[in-house]
Amino acid sequence: MIVAANFKTNMTRQSTREYLDTLDDFLATRHHDDDTIMVFPPATALDACHCAVKIGAQNAYATRNGAYTGEIGLEQLDEFDIRTILIGHSERRHILGESQEEIVHKFNFFKEQGFSIIYCIGEPLEIRESGSHALMEYLEAQLEDIDLGYANLMIAYEPVWAIGTGMTPSTDDILLIHNALKKLVQRPLLYGGSVKPENAREIMALANVDGVLVGGASLHIEDFKLIIQATN
Ligand code: 13P
Repeated sequence: MIVAANFKTNMTRQSTREYLDTLDDFLATRHHDDDTIMVFPPATALDACHCAVKIGAQNAYATRNGAYTGEIGLEQLDEFDIRTILIGHSERRHILGESQEEIVHKFNFFKEQGFSIIYCIGEPLEIRESGSHALMEYLEAQLEDIDLGYANLMIAYEPVWAIGTGMTPSTDDILLIHNALKKLVQRPLLYGGSVKPENAREIMALANVDGVLVGGASLHIEDFKLIIQATN
């Protein structure tokens, strides 16, 4: 299983360091070597981590360096040996206004660099309410021009209406959508959207759910530990 924490715009360099120390101690006591644990801290907390946790960037610009005020590029990630990135998160699509074209460009850039990419897709509520055909069409459009055969690709299915709301699709719905997605992409498929200790086990037990991408609940180390334990 893959269990990933997306801190979004939360935590500091100091609190992230403490969190990772605690997490690493916890992982040292487990005997589940097949699980991959990832943490995506804010850019200011990126750091080299000689630990069992894989550290990734929540975002970066598709450049090595250059004049892109406010952005970070490959050079800033290389400094800390960061080789993992989230691309296409719904908050970047819908709040920061990243277009599919920009996202594809970013994907291709980091793919060429050999990065592990968690590529996020997910539908807003009005699409969900238009039925399963519209839903799959929407998700397929988000996969357009993405190299689905890329060896270091993971997909995160995160319904926009389930993010940070406490609402999740039913397990039947998650199962249906993950089954349909697995036909399109034979890569690890994560579910994201209001994953918490109370529902993590049930979600990860579903066929074609290869892990979870956790926002809010990952900010509390004790909750994130419980979610990791739910892979057992
Ligand atoms: P929440 O777990 O807070 O719903 O966020 C999910 C998410 O967006 C992870 O990328």
